[in-house]
Amino acid sequence: MATLEDPIEIGGVTIPNRLYRAPLLECAGNGPDAVDTLIDDLEPAAESGVGLICQGATIVSGDGGCAAPGMTRVHDPEFVERLSRLTDRIHDHGSRIVVQLEHGGLRSMETWHAEYRREHPDLEQLAVSEPPWQLRALDRLGFLSSDPHVLSTDEVYELAADFGRSAAYAADAGYDGIHLAGANMGIVQQFLSPFYNHRDDEFGGSPEARLEFLAVVHDEIRKRAGDVPLLTKVPAETPAPPSPVVRRKLSLEDGIEIARRLEKIGYDAVVPVQTSVVWDMSIVRGAYPERAWGNEGLYDEYDAAFGGTTRRKLVAAANRVQSLQYDFDPAWNEDFCRRVREQVSIPVLAEGGIRERSRMDRLLGDGSEEPACDMVGMARPFYAEPRLGARLLKDAPDNARVLCESCNNCTVPQVTGAPGMCRTPTVLQRRGDLEREGVYER
Ligand SMILES: Cc1cc2nc3c(=O)[nH]c(=O)nc-3n(C[C@H](O)[C@H](O)[C@H](O)COP(=O)(O)O)c2cc1C
Ligand code: SF4
Repeated sequence: MATLEDPIEIGGVTIPNRLYRAPLLECAGNGPDAVDTLIDDLEPAAESGVGLICQGATIVSGDGGCAAPGMTRVHDPEFVERLSRLTDRIHDHGSRIVVQLEHGGLRSMETWHAEYRREHPDLEQLAVSEPPWQLRALDRLGFLSSDPHVLSTDEVYELAADFGRSAAYAADAGYDGIHLAGANMGIVQQFLSPFYNHRDDEFGGSPEARLEFLAVVHDEIRKRAGDVPLLTKVPAETPAPPSPVVRRKLSLEDGIEIARRLEKIGYDAVVPVQTSVVWDMSIVRGAYPERAWGNEGLYDEYDAAFGGTTRRKLVAAANRVQSLQYDFDPAWNEDFCRRVREQVSIPVLAEGGIRERSRMDRLLGDGSEEPACDMVGMARPFYAEPRLGARLLKDAPDNARVLCESCNNCTVPQVTGAPGMCRTPTVLQRRGDLEREGVYER
């Protein structure tokens, strides 16, 4: 049975242990400080011994497609070359780093961010098909602003080539692998999902055809970046509202089948995640962020994003309802991961609500049951404790658990453009105490 400290291979690359930092949008942009911001965000995890660092989503095209303000674009080889300073720093600590490639499609800021929409009236959203009626209704009510451009067949191939080009630049800059934003309503999920995809060319019409985009992206990456390890999130849209609100969505069985086919196509690892058909709290289960919504210092950012005070309050109310629906659920992707792992022989990475060392050991298989996964990851806990690895790896007490309370006070500010960090004073205070005790030193 594997332990958290055991190395693992993904696509021929050895990762020194089985703990990973899951992708968290850094929103470092592409300006003069971008690389330093990324180093500040990501190096502490590597320093603390975490085996694999997953950089958050970056955009493969030169305009449009960003899901949140300030996302880094990786379409420009000169910029990506500068990221070798980041990959060198991560390698100096013996860790590995992958970058996540993304295009937001209908989830882009040009759909939902009020100020950005005003400033970029000409930007259309790339769409797999005409948006579903649920999004059109939100458009009519003024919550979204859709101006979809349905991709022609040639444009789909061109978008896949963008993923391939960005992957090649990243491999040249020293990244150890490519991670695809296959879930969380990015364009990859929009291709996979029957909720979005009603195409009648080779990219739609059947489950196999809806997977074709990922097959072409795989081929483009192999053609341009060689045998670089390739992993992707795999969605099951189980948390989406039931029929008749959402009639067609990816079931758990569909997600398992997608993972099985991805292995055949040549993907090197999968990250099964349960996610709704839209961008909501199902991927960040936890409490209603009372403190974040009450932070007057951030009202300007919120109002710019949501389109004024009234809309901000409505979004906060929707967030309150969702937090009841998607309350914290420990290791909520465990069952999905275990069922995928029974069907594939490539590594399965588990994330979502994993908080204690003992649970990590169990997920990896401590002898009491079949392993659910081959690596365990966390996202928000790294905001609370950037050097978390030092506390969880090697000689960690059995009852070691993270400080993060999954309160989501970090999530709303981050999504609207504020820096990603823990924003709960009691948690920060506790971290300060632990820092003084020296527990984050290695
Ligand atoms: C602020 C924030 C940003 C995120 N950014 C990304 C991202 O860029 N790409 C991605 O695949 N997932 C992203 N996620 C989802 C996380 O990778 C992770 O799956 C989720 O937070 C659940 O793990 P946790 O309970 O350990 O936080 C983000 C989550 C948060 C809270
Ligand atoms: S604000 Fe801090 S404690 Fe709350 S979810 Fe974010 S990182 Fe965790």
